[in-house]
Amino acid sequence: MIKNMIKTPCFVLNVDKALCNIIGFKTALINRFKNNILGYSVKTNSFPGWLDIVKDNGGYAEVVSYDEYNLVLKCGFDKSHIIYNGPMKDKASFIDALENGAIVNIETKRELDWLLELDRNKSYKIGIRVNLNISVISPEDCKEEESYSRFGFSYENGELKSAIDHIAGLDHVVLKGLHLHRTSKTRSINTYKNICLYALNIIKEYDLNLSYIDIGGGFYGDMPGKPTYQDYIDAIYNVLSLHYNCDELCLIVEPGNALVASPFSYYTSVIDIKNVGDKRIIVTDGTRNDVDPFFHKKDYFKEFINDLSERDLEKEQVFVGCTCLENDKLFIEKGAPQMQIGDIIKFCFVGAYTMCLSPLFIRFFPRVYIKKHENLILAREEWTENEYLQKIKK
Ligand SMILES: Cc1ncc(COP(=O)(O)O)c(C=O)c1O
Repeated sequence: MIKNMIKTPCFVLNVDKALCNIIGFKTALINRFKNNILGYSVKTNSFPGWLDIVKDNGGYAEVVSYDEYNLVLKCGFDKSHIIYNGPMKDKASFIDALENGAIVNIETKRELDWLLELDRNKSYKIGIRVNLNISVISPEDCKEEESYSRFGFSYENGELKSAIDHIAGLDHVVLKGLHLHRTSKTRSINTYKNICLYALNIIKEYDLNLSYIDIGGGFYGDMPGKPTYQDYIDAIYNVLSLHYNCDELCLIVEPGNALVASPFSYYTSVIDIKNVGDKRIIVTDGTRNDVDPFFHKKDYFKEFINDLSERDLEKEQVFVGCTCLENDKLFIEKGAPQMQIGDIIKFCFVGAYTMCLSPLFIRFFPRVYIKKHENLILAREEWTENEYLQKIKK
């Protein structure tokens, strides 16, 4: 029984589920694109035990800063299995990546300048990120506040053309890829179709001879009623094959959420119960910081691990976290069995944008276990004051 093997609060990574997602996405790609790369968006959750599973199953690391670049090298990724995106590259790692066969997508103007410092006697391949305004490209999929993007070079105002011309003017660099990431509100197949059509337009207009399209992330994971990995890849294939022989084009994807959300669960125990006015407050040793760092979820995919079948029902129970934030409230249960001290709650699908966004607020990072079949190993001890103090100079 897992409840007897863990100390809460903790995350548990389920390896079987992780493999199922990674192999499932890879299979969807192979079914349509002979040349494909499954890049995993490291920012979504950079826990090393998870990165190992990605690496050991042929996944590439998609990184967006020199910190992430150095992290994945330490975790054993080959430089040629890195996709290097984002504005937070530094010159040294940018050049190192290009010298060693990483896929590098230019995001900033300073990277265009850095190209001038590469060895002129060699030849380098480069990609460039295209700015995607979803309200123009796929209006039905756009979040009001996020219609335009601050990333990539804009086709509409000519900055993309200037960047492409700059690269075309260099004898030692060739533009080989377009990077087209957006996570849309709907995560719909329609968004990907429209982004591909938008890209084809650019490719034709500027007569680009590309070897890859990097369509980014933003996909749903294995959620009932939502598009499957194969649905997305089929849709992308159907549009790109209007222009390309897809046996010759490499499709790169960079899923984060779609791969890593479901393999991670979070367990927390009830540590106190008290009544405040007409409210019954169930205090847990977990915190919303760990499962909802943006503080926008109303409820969770959750399970009560203990047998509650014989318990009386309670009108309303307010489950709260252990920090001193008034809004560290997790969820409210109405008409549910009465909680008792020691009961354990499991939060499912919490691997994406949770562990990597947890602050060191009041309580330090929780334990992480890795579960393979029925075996459980402790993969990270909980952080203590020692880890917190490790870089402090006296
Ligand atoms: C460049 C890039 N690729 C991939 C992703 C992963 O997105 P998602 O987790 O929605 O799949 C992100 C997320 O911000 C990103 O910025």
